[in-house]
Amino acid sequence: MKHVTALVQGRRSVRTFDGERLREEDLEKLSSFMAELNNPYEIPVKCRLLDASQQPLKCPVVSGTELYVGAKAKRVPHIEEAFGYSFETLVLYAQSLGIGTVWVGGTMDRAAFERAMELESEEMMPCMSPLGYPAKKMSVKESLMRKGIRADHRKPFEEIFFDGAFGVPLTPEKAGVLAQPLEMVRLAPSAVNKQPWQAVLKENAVHFYLKHTKGFVSEAAGDLQKIDMGIALCHFALTAEENGLTMQFCINDPGIPAEPDTEYIASYLLP
Ligand SMILES: Cc1cc2nc3c(=O)[nH]c(=O)nc-3n(C[C@H](O)[C@H](O)[C@H](O)COP(=O)(O)O)c2cc1C
Repeated sequence: MKHVTALVQGRRSVRTFDGERLREEDLEKLSSFMAELNNPYEIPVKCRLLDASQQPLKCPVVSGTELYVGAKAKRVPHIEEAFGYSFETLVLYAQSLGIGTVWVGGTMDRAAFERAMELESEEMMPCMSPLGYPAKKMSVKESLMRKGIRADHRKPFEEIFFDGAFGVPLTPEKAGVLAQPLEMVRLAPSAVNKQPWQAVLKENAVHFYLKHTKGFVSEAAGDLQKIDMGIALCHFALTAEENGLTMQFCINDPGIPAEPDTEYIASYLLP
């Protein structure tokens, strides 16, 4: 995928669509891309297009489209981060085609979507998204919702990224070549816009952490904030790659002292 930073900066959740069906060529491109999704956990994530005019699918926050993309994966360790990474790659690709999306993990008739996905007992479908061309004007419902969760707001860089230890702010200047990949993490979408990600830059590695908020874990969707972490890793890795940085993904807790509600997720090592 090209121009990752422009795609990240240009993306916002789209819940109001213009009523047009997706053009055949866009649908084809999207379908081929869906079949090739990958993530550093190497956990397969399978996507399926769903049509609400054929099946009784309801998502009350969405208007102006009947097309959705659901995704499912096996319930294995790190499923949420892997799902977040893979599905966000699809979200950014859709953005490159001018197709709007919104991550939906809560506000849907989940049972209907899970039936349409033909979930097997060992599988889960944490989230799905509508697909369509964005309407020129947002519905009143959508703009009120955005205001309610301050969807345009993001935490400052120095509040979420740290230099060597938690509590020591990292400036973009100090982050050097990692400033842009980290900035793309900062701009990522997250459930209820909680932005639960933190990172510590130490020696030749960036260590990612999840600062948990209560109420995001369920049997059906898993931990939505771990999905947020997968999204963050996706923005970081795709931007680093586009900038020519070869970084190695690993899960190896460096043991940096952290608050009890802050969980180590994964690291990227610089060459
Ligand atoms: C894992 C996840 C789950 C989400 N679930 C919902 C949802 O159920 N309904 C909804 O309207 N938006 C949902 N969102 C969208 C967020 O509210 C949105 O990304 C956030 O407010 C930031 O706004 P932006 O995407 O426009 O930047 C979800 C986002 C993520 C990442």
